[in-house]
Amino acid sequence: MQDTSLHLARRSDGQPIHRPVMLERILSLLSPALSHAGAILVDGTLGMGGHSRALLEANPNARLIGIDQDENALAVAGEHLADFADRTTLVQARFDSLTQVLENAGVGATERGVDAILLDLGLSSLQIDEAERGFSYMHDASLDMRMDTTRELTAATIVNTYEASELVRIIRTYGEEKLAQRIVAQIVANRPINTTGELVAAIDQALPAAVRFRHGSSSHPAKRTFQALRIAVNAELEALQAVIPQALAALAVDGVLAIISFQSLEDRYVKDAFRTATQDSAPAGLPYVPEAFQARFVNLTRGAEVACEAEVNGNSRSASAKLRAVKRIKEDA
Ligand SMILES: C[S@@+](CC[C@H](N)C(=O)[O-])C[C@H]1O[C@@H](n2cnc3c(N)ncnc32)[C@H](O)[C@@H]1O
Repeated sequence: MQDTSLHLARRSDGQPIHRPVMLERILSLLSPALSHAGAILVDGTLGMGGHSRALLEANPNARLIGIDQDENALAVAGEHLADFADRTTLVQARFDSLTQVLENAGVGATERGVDAILLDLGLSSLQIDEAERGFSYMHDASLDMRMDTTRELTAATIVNTYEASELVRIIRTYGEEKLAQRIVAQIVANRPINTTGELVAAIDQALPAAVRFRHGSSSHPAKRTFQALRIAVNAELEALQAVIPQALAALAVDGVLAIISFQSLEDRYVKDAFRTATQDSAPAGLPYVPEAFQARFVNLTRGAEVACEAEVNGNSRSASAKLRAVKRIKEDA
């Protein structure tokens, strides 16, 4: 397989600005579906276009519909994919409007369907590096965290106006933070909190010294709270739940849906949806499974696949990645 790392966008110091997670595996899962003339790839989380660029390079017959809700990401991806402009359509949208995006692109329900769909969830390193957007606990900025800046809800609104019990639920569930109750007590005591720096300070005050002094980017005490607020601001779990049935319905026979998630609730949604899609649905007790009840999809991954040690060593973001993929084997009944 070609060395796709040569083609990544680079900073002025020559370092890649973004390493697509589990890139080789994504290529091996999606490329078989993209080799034929007229093949259509949908990247629902285009980001900087790292995965898409490698897939377009590896599959000269494929055409890309690249979706991102973040207009800055689309601008960067547009530059990164400039060599493939004649095979690329970029759309600013949330991926949970997939059916509508495909209708608009002329590949809706009445057409044969799309051949590969990729969702690489969460934030891109570009968004983390854009300090003023408030995603990072490492930079002081206003408490924003919107991926789509045309939406109204910001992290500041959640932190300053939500009931304490709802804040505890968000931070515990989306951040998997055991100390959510203590953190929320400090947040409420320090309201209004307008900047990421003030939020980090409130979290610091809430935590026992042993946790507080374990600073380091992967175990920063504010990491889980920031993740939770970002997921809530961007309604990420709702979008994921809404997109999976649309993506499965959009796939042509032999088409593949691959999802990389980074948080255990996300992975559970993917796992449950893929389990249902790959199981026969015949009522119990039938001697055979009639065609209408046979599963329309098979798993391409056994359980969730994770990044190899070498990748995790080079890219800490890949440490929590979980990859699952399914392939359509039959038309819907
Ligand atoms: C991890 S990055 C994708 C990186 C990309 N695979 C690459 O190789 O450059 C995730 C991207 O998905 C976008 N995103 C997240 N949730 C989204 C949603 N519900 N709808 C559309 N875009 C979304 C984010 O704005 C971000 O740019």
